[in-house]
Amino acid sequence: MKRLLTGIKPSGELTLGNYIGAIKQMVAEQDNYETFMFIADMHAITVRQDPKELKERIRKLLALYIACGMDPNKNKIYLQSENEYIASLSWILECHTYYGEASRMIQFKEKSKNNENFSVGLLTYPILMAADILYCDADYVPVGIDQVQHVELARDIATRINNVYGNIFKMPEAMVKESAIKIKDLKDPLKKMSKSEDNPQGSIALLDDINVIRKKIMGATTDSEMRIVYDMDNKPGISNLINIATSLSDYSKEDIEKMFEGKNYGEFKRFVADIVCDEISKIQEKYNELINSDILDKILDEGIKESRKLAKEKYDLLREKVGLIR
Ligand code: TYM
Repeated sequence: MKRLLTGIKPSGELTLGNYIGAIKQMVAEQDNYETFMFIADMHAITVRQDPKELKERIRKLLALYIACGMDPNKNKIYLQSENEYIASLSWILECHTYYGEASRMIQFKEKSKNNENFSVGLLTYPILMAADILYCDADYVPVGIDQVQHVELARDIATRINNVYGNIFKMPEAMVKESAIKIKDLKDPLKKMSKSEDNPQGSIALLDDINVIRKKIMGATTDSEMRIVYDMDNKPGISNLINIATSLSDYSKEDIEKMFEGKNYGEFKRFVADIVCDEISKIQEKYNELINSDILDKILDEGIKESRKLAKEKYDLLREKVGLIR
């Protein structure tokens, strides 16, 4: 069975973008693949975190994974930092990555811009991500489009290592669902919807109050035309809402364009809000049942076992090949 793997950072509140870009794809594929889904807590600390808050967010994210439909019996669900072999593997990968490659990453450039005090971890972030992906020979990595460049880097590093030491790593592929291309900020649809709280009105958190979510969608930036058609270049706001609606329903873009021909933006936004609120209410209901349950710790205890076993095997193999051996 082919293997699927993805992770999410427990930084900020989980958004509709994360849900559509990563979680929903994993849920849809959990019967067709062997799936690994982890909480990328080590990636979260590339930016300084409050330890108490981080701990809480890890638990919340785990509860949300399950509430969103990840089945712990079908998936290996684990906490990245509990697998110490990943960081060890990452070090060897770092030593096979050029500074130029790492510093060319768009996310690094964006996050280090106008910021003199960024951590080195922000630069090596995608290499740790390569270790996450390569240790278990993942075939596919469901991500939003913003992470595709990082998966490409993982492939470059894997190719280099395979060329030098023989066939160590499998070549992973990013899996990007067309409608999950990139969910944009509701207020500024040229930016991606992100967890950072700089513009809470533009971002929908899965744990936002349902009425607040409805208001955010009704207040989404559109344009001065009155045409509901998909055109990302000229109508990014409307196109983003169409993307959200198609990602969460069986409607296609064409269906929506047809259904809303001659209708106004208010009606269309209500339609999108109904779809989003319906899906998120169900998630919140399950989340509330789970958050205080001790089942969450059991899930992580179970999930880490296979992950550690595989990572140790890969690390030991590469260590020996590289010459880190007595
Ligand atoms: P994070 O937490 O920033 O994002 C988690 C996932 O959500 C996707 N995503 C989006 N997709 C569509 N529209 C958006 N607006 C949007 N915002 C976020 C991201 O593309 C991502 O798939 N570096 C990873 C975490 C990670 C990882 C890995 C992923 C660490 N190691 C190994 C895959 C494989 C990240 O971006 O997390």
